[in-house]
Amino acid sequence: MRFDVVTLFPEQFRILSDEGVVARALKRGLASLTTWNPRDFATDAQRTVDDRPYGGGPGMVMKVAPLREAIAAAKHAAAVAGHDSRVAYLSPQGRRLAQADMQRIAAAPGWVLVAGRYEGVDERLLEAHVDEEWSIGDYVLSGGELAAMVVMDAVIRLLPGALGHADSAAQDSHGDGLLDCPHYTRPELIDGRSVPPVLLSGDHAAIARWRRQQALVRTWQRRPDLLRARGLGEDDRALLDEFMRGRAGTAAEQERNET
Ligand code: ADE
Repeated sequence: MRFDVVTLFPEQFRILSDEGVVARALKRGLASLTTWNPRDFATDAQRTVDDRPYGGGPGMVMKVAPLREAIAAAKHAAAVAGHDSRVAYLSPQGRRLAQADMQRIAAAPGWVLVAGRYEGVDERLLEAHVDEEWSIGDYVLSGGELAAMVVMDAVIRLLPGALGHADSAAQDSHGDGLLDCPHYTRPELIDGRSVPPVLLSGDHAAIARWRRQQALVRTWQRRPDLLRARGLGEDDRALLDEFMRGRAGTAAEQERNET
């Protein structure tokens, strides 16, 4: 898949292309990343990309024309390469993205991501040239670059072949609408803490069952909103009930011991 990013700070995207899972995916051609600087599309001698807001107030607003031309150039290059790209603008006013959105984004042939700076961009650019507006969370960053990189990282690691192990992405937190189970590695005992015995049992079915139960319990304890949103199948409900019964038993036992 193809990403074209419209940004005043193309160097920042080296974070993605220098090392790590995304860098490897880019090198192997699973995805491509091209940056487009609106300053290169400004027509005045100063290469102006922003101006004061109508109506007054602090900060500067990014002008329509340089952004419009940068987006057009990016879309054209994508089309020539056979990608019908949609345009997304990163901003705190956008729809908040979750894992399911990352899957949808990964299924598209390409995206032009517009990273805004200053106080924002002229609203008329969004109306006429942007298909979607995305937020990565309810907080304000000083620009859309980090948000664009967050989206690209979350999407590119989902592409087939991006991760070493074929199942890794499916097993992530949120992969199935659940948080991930806990993980352990050697040694078996450290600082008085041991590894749950089932993980040492070699019984693959028991291990899979324990992991599923842990994922369900964690989600129930930490993010009940996620459980409410996705609902529970019969098997999952039984696993969660089993944990609750165990807890109730432990609590009753504790009470008996205390009295
Ligand atoms: N730009 C600034 N803050 C942002 C956010 N929370 N999400 C996406 N883009 C942003």
